[in-house]
Amino acid sequence: MLLFVDSAKTTPGSSQIRFWSRGPVVGRLDSGRRGGLVPGDGSKASGCTGGRVETLMEFSHESVVVRRGRRSRLPIVVAVHSTALGRAVGGCRMWAYDSWEDGLRDALRLSEGMTRKCAAAGLPNGGGKTVVVVPTGRSVTADERRAALHDVGDIVAELGGAYVTGPDAGTGPADMAVIGERTEYVFCRPEAAGGSGDPSPFTALGVVAALRSTCLALFGSPTLAGRRFAVIGLGHVGEQIARQLAAAGADLVLSDVDPAKRSLGAELGAVFAEPDAAATAEVDVLVPAALGGLLTRDLVARLRCGAVAGAANNQLADPGVAELLREREILWAPDYIANAGGVVNAVSREVLGDEPEEAVKRIESIADTLTGLFDTAARTKITTAQAADDLARQRLAAPMSTAPGSA
Ligand code: PHE
Repeated sequence: MLLFVDSAKTTPGSSQIRFWSRGPVVGRLDSGRRGGLVPGDGSKASGCTGGRVETLMEFSHESVVVRRGRRSRLPIVVAVHSTALGRAVGGCRMWAYDSWEDGLRDALRLSEGMTRKCAAAGLPNGGGKTVVVVPTGRSVTADERRAALHDVGDIVAELGGAYVTGPDAGTGPADMAVIGERTEYVFCRPEAAGGSGDPSPFTALGVVAALRSTCLALFGSPTLAGRRFAVIGLGHVGEQIARQLAAAGADLVLSDVDPAKRSLGAELGAVFAEPDAAATAEVDVLVPAALGGLLTRDLVARLRCGAVAGAANNQLADPGVAELLREREILWAPDYIANAGGVVNAVSREVLGDEPEEAVKRIESIADTLTGLFDTAARTKITTAQAADDLARQRLAAPMSTAPGSA
């Protein structure tokens, strides 16, 4: 199945994405000024079987490819949200979903988040994302994984440099080397293969920098020693955040859905708790480091922390949660500001040609950006989410004034 959706670049946000949700679809959809479905060239459109037509959301993406992988037969989504500031960048997620539409939704949301992340971080890049949809409960063999990665590489290659992929949930540097067998547009291959390697230590470094500025805003001092943090999710990034916080002398509550991660708690002398207990524990800062959507209205009503700052993407279950946090006087570090370290390192090393120390400086500047946003939000009585979105929008509106790494 191939579904290709394009929105007119000149009218972003003005049109709707619609797609056939049933039946084999082979076609190209343009959501132009009329906002309707326009089959693309006749040959490709001939396979359309117009089933139920569903309106998804405002379509602000530049292009979205949805394809059943030629080799893997798995649904693959490559969403390019924006190239206004430069090539779109964003990782390749290989994850379990109940339906390919759920995977599509995730790719659309995450790629849009990457546009804001890159813009706010001062990178000369736009946002994109890839999702390889693994049906829930299905295991993927090593051969199927390779096949899916080659399928991803082919789609990225077809986009001709509009989008550069990288690692994300469920993929790592070795996978990027496999994608690299099909396209040059891939970040974070192992260092031995000429890439910048695993981005997760750099994402963790950026989150810890964000935690310092969060402590500065809460207590007037950025010191982490003696502060109490609850880290939810101990994957690649979460584990490294926990280790860095423990090394800095912080007090930790750790949590993961996988009980095997208890051993990390024991190793770091931390309390290990169930996710809900950890999320509502009395701590200085709650650190979400698992998948998105942790901050629901229900959870926010029960929080007992001074601030939330972490690595997870899309932490707010819905945008209105930002206002609830503000009403409860819980300081929120916008996710895409705090977790930009991984992509900042990759672009810094692989595009801008920076030395490792320069990349680390750029990552640590996340702290200053965040301090600026906290100040703006407090001064102008808006949510920190709004302050971050305003910063991203300003950068997107004035591409020429965007100096890489500027705060
Ligand atoms: N997965 C990273 C993120 O969500 C994206 C990334 C892309 C990281 C490319 C490194 C390189 O920010």
